[in-house]
Amino acid sequence: MKDIWQKDKIKDIELKNRIVRSATNEHLGTIDGCITDDYIKVYHDLAKSGVGLIITSHMAIDKNQRADVTHICVNDSRNKEKLKLLTNTVHDYGSKIIAQISYPGHHGSKIEGQVAKTPSETDNTKALSIEEIKECVRSYVKTIELLQRVGFDGVQLHMAHGYLLSEFLDPFYNKRTDNYGGTANNRYRIIHEILTEATNSIK
Ligand SMILES: Cc1cc2nc3c(=O)[nH]c(=O)nc-3n(C[C@H](O)[C@H](O)[C@H](O)COP(=O)(O)O)c2cc1C
Repeated sequence: MKDIWQKDKIKDIELKNRIVRSATNEHLGTIDGCITDDYIKVYHDLAKSGVGLIITSHMAIDKNQRADVTHICVNDSRNKEKLKLLTNTVHDYGSKIIAQISYPGHHGSKIEGQVAKTPSETDNTKALSIEEIKECVRSYVKTIELLQRVGFDGVQLHMAHGYLLSEFLDPFYNKRTDNYGGTANNRYRIIHEILTEATNSIK
């Protein structure tokens, strides 16, 4: 078995050791989704303590669809310089940083006044139209491009815990009868589109 302090690689991301900090939401955004100094400090301290790879808390790709009031919105222009500061801070210690991004799905109904969008309609959410799914894919791709520009080493899509992409995969939540529901391939389609379009655009 490899030693945790040994160098390693994930695709072309070279890691100084095999210690990974899994995505953990610290709830340290402001109530309108901006990165705070306390948030940067958490990542500074993780990098300083020797973590080889840090995966951030999940961050929103759409400021109108956030999972809770402290959910940081990556695309908010007010966060651009803070995102650069975040990646530079981590890189200064030789650590790598991957951004985890999300679209809330039914979790969006926790914010008062926000109409949560899900694969299929529920008591407190509305179903995404095809055009809204396309818009969601575009937001993911734009976000991934931005994350590359501000210095992240990679991006992780949040596809668990009942957030939108996991709801698409799960026939319990996805009752669609169009190309985005039904078969496993159809339920995976939105993820496939994000990955294909993002890969083409950041080549
Ligand atoms: C407070 C807290 C916040 C978390 N936030 C996220 C998150 O933003 N994204 C995610 O994918 N997982 C999140 N997780 C799950 C963790 O990344 C991890 O998968 C989970 O704690 C299980 O790992 P463990 O067995 O090493 O504790 C969170 C867990 C906790 C306890």
